[in-house]
Amino acid sequence: MAKSTPHGGKLINRMNIGQSLEFSANYVELDKLELSDLELIANGAYSPLEGFMGEKDYYSVVEQMRLDNGLPWSLPITLAVDHAEAHKLGIGETIHLGYQGEIYGTMKVTEKFLPNKHLEAEKVYQTADLKHPGVNKLFQRPDVYIAGPITMVHLPNKGDFQSFYLDPLQTREKFRELGWKSVVGFQTRNPVHRAHEYIQKSALETVDGLFLNPLVGETKSDDIPSEIRMKSYQVLLEKYYPADRVFLAVFPAAMRYAGPREAIFHAIVRKNFGCTHFIVGRDHAGVGNYYGTYDSQKIFSCFEEEELGIKPLFFENSFYCKKCENMASEKTCPHSMEHRVILSGTKVREMLKNGVQPPKEFSRPEVIEILIAGMKEVYENSSIG
Ligand code: ADX
Repeated sequence: MAKSTPHGGKLINRMNIGQSLEFSANYVELDKLELSDLELIANGAYSPLEGFMGEKDYYSVVEQMRLDNGLPWSLPITLAVDHAEAHKLGIGETIHLGYQGEIYGTMKVTEKFLPNKHLEAEKVYQTADLKHPGVNKLFQRPDVYIAGPITMVHLPNKGDFQSFYLDPLQTREKFRELGWKSVVGFQTRNPVHRAHEYIQKSALETVDGLFLNPLVGETKSDDIPSEIRMKSYQVLLEKYYPADRVFLAVFPAAMRYAGPREAIFHAIVRKNFGCTHFIVGRDHAGVGNYYGTYDSQKIFSCFEEEELGIKPLFFENSFYCKKCENMASEKTCPHSMEHRVILSGTKVREMLKNGVQPPKEFSRPEVIEILIAGMKEVYENSSIG
């Protein structure tokens, strides 16, 4: 597989930045997740979606992991409003979509419908437990979904990392310029630790380029903020990766923590960005103990490789082994647990909070330095506030 065709055949473009707006249209306030979805629909990352999903696509995706036309798609992309708001909106009407009062897009309302949130929770998240951050968010949303094709008219401010926001046309162009025929995508919501680096570089041994594509949209409050992570990625790439083999750009989506379902979604979206391959390691997009370690890999067998159009590269749980004196995995290391350097996310956050350096076998010292400094600021600010 050397060529990456967008999902559904062509890249969608629903951007019309600066388009003049109807003065008196109804306004719907988006939440952060919906705002990021608006942008990713508009820039083609979610091709073939042209708007927020209608009822047929919604139920088809929830129940069968396919759009109504049969194309694989694993997460509902929806816009929720309350009953009173829904009542105000007429079918066929073009509304404004905004965030904190500012208008970012428009949508022609084609449908209003009631979701089945219990079904959505059980199918998409495999649990209705409100302690699951994705399920919690789902049940907090208002109760009516409205659907229709969108247009983005204004882009959110990207802050310090503007140059890392590329749309799928731009990343595809970049990969062409770099001369890469095969590109492996890497999703992460964490700093890149040695295990990540190991699986990325193992993949890079067999493909032309690595697309490091950290998710920088909404995450749960104890994940490390994206601004701090971005600094750590830059230092790591500068010191430990060949410049002509890796390309860093952000993925502005929100995390759903939907484990297996989100792994499929992550892969399809990276195909739209131009990747031919996608890394799926242990507990991809998981949270707590809701999913089995390799469930996010197993779910790929629900689809033919051609219909997904991107090749998943599966990796076992990786770690540093003191006996091997090397990074390794269950597949390649014969030694027992006590020789392996393995730290949980919670443990690492605890160490960073206390200014304690995790061992260099776990994370590069340059990365740790940035994380400790960044998290110190976060904790100081939060204890003042
Ligand atoms: S995720 O929610 O974005 O998946 P994370 O940033 O931790 O979380 O993981 C990024 C990718 O690296 C995922 O594909 C995940 O499965 C993989 N991964 C993370 N840690 C390991 C590890 N120790 N061994 C193998 N794969 C890993």
